Amino acid sequence: MKAAASAHSNLALIKYWGKSNAALNIPAVGSISITLKELSTRTSVEFDPQLNADLLILNESHADPGKEKRVSAFLNLIRQQSGIDHFARVVSQNNYPIGAGLASSASGFAALALAAARAAQLSLSPEQLSILARRGSGSAARSIYGGFVEMKAGKATDGSDSYAVQIADEHHWALNVIVAITTEQEKSIGSTEGMTQTAQTSPYYKDWISSSNADLDEMRAAISQKDFEKLGEISEHSCLKMHGLAMSAKPGILYWNQTTLEIIHAVRELRRQGFACYFTIDAGPQVKILCLPADAQRIEKYVRGIPGVRRTIPTSLGPGAKLIETSS
Ligand code: DP6
Repeated sequence: MKAAASAHSNLALIKYWGKSNAALNIPAVGSISITLKELSTRTSVEFDPQLNADLLILNESHADPGKEKRVSAFLNLIRQQSGIDHFARVVSQNNYPIGAGLASSASGFAALALAAARAAQLSLSPEQLSILARRGSGSAARSIYGGFVEMKAGKATDGSDSYAVQIADEHHWALNVIVAITTEQEKSIGSTEGMTQTAQTSPYYKDWISSSNADLDEMRAAISQKDFEKLGEISEHSCLKMHGLAMSAKPGILYWNQTTLEIIHAVRELRRQGFACYFTIDAGPQVKILCLPADAQRIEKYVRGIPGVRRTIPTSLGPGAKLIETSS
């Protein structure tokens, strides 16, 4: 059986950083994200008795062994659940840079979970699919859904209540995001490793966990009231708190470059000039600027002019993961 699926990347407004169980990939805190229309991955999976190992083709090239191993470990979960014992050919196409803090693992594992589950003829509920995607990457659990999405950390030690749910779909509120690319290089330390290092060494890690529910409550309220100022302020707070936490690890983890910092200041300057815009940054040097459609073009033009900004990608809110085709 062969199946193909697409999924979109997502941007965490309330960040996930740290795990309560690394083996099952259970997040230590909940998170809230928006799914992004213009950043997507398309993946096909084919279980083939002729293969003697799993094969990952990423953007038309054979993927490096690290990525292939991670995909293979994920396919083992599918093989366990379905009883299939063939290896698979996975062909994945990303329309944006991989590994540079644009959540390629989110759209990647969400598309892979859906395509692989269908190719293996597993019939999963959206919650089960989100749990499966989480095993590939925590943020991927959120890319199963479109619009505004909350990932529940859950309480069960087996991770059975640690999945994402949709808060509101992509039509609830027209938000725009301008992604400012400051470098196309892969980041130096991946989020999985960065989280472990932070949890083990940061003196602030406990406070990060205990302060997370208040942020989630405020963000849920901002989304339901469509209060952009509130949404933006809590987003910046969660972003700076996460990066401050990572910086406080030993050795400190610093994802930003000079241009990242230039953009942060530029966004705050634009706000002083009366533009409603806020920044957020994930585990990489790119900056995502949240704004409303009326201001998006002017803000993008301004950001494109900041020295060091290589290009910008404007995007709006997008849908959840979808099957594209299946065949036997
Ligand atoms: C900073 O989902 O990439 O983007 O579960 O180890 O694969 P793993 O981590 P990942 O971490 C995302 C971290 C973040 C914040 C977020 O998306 O919530």
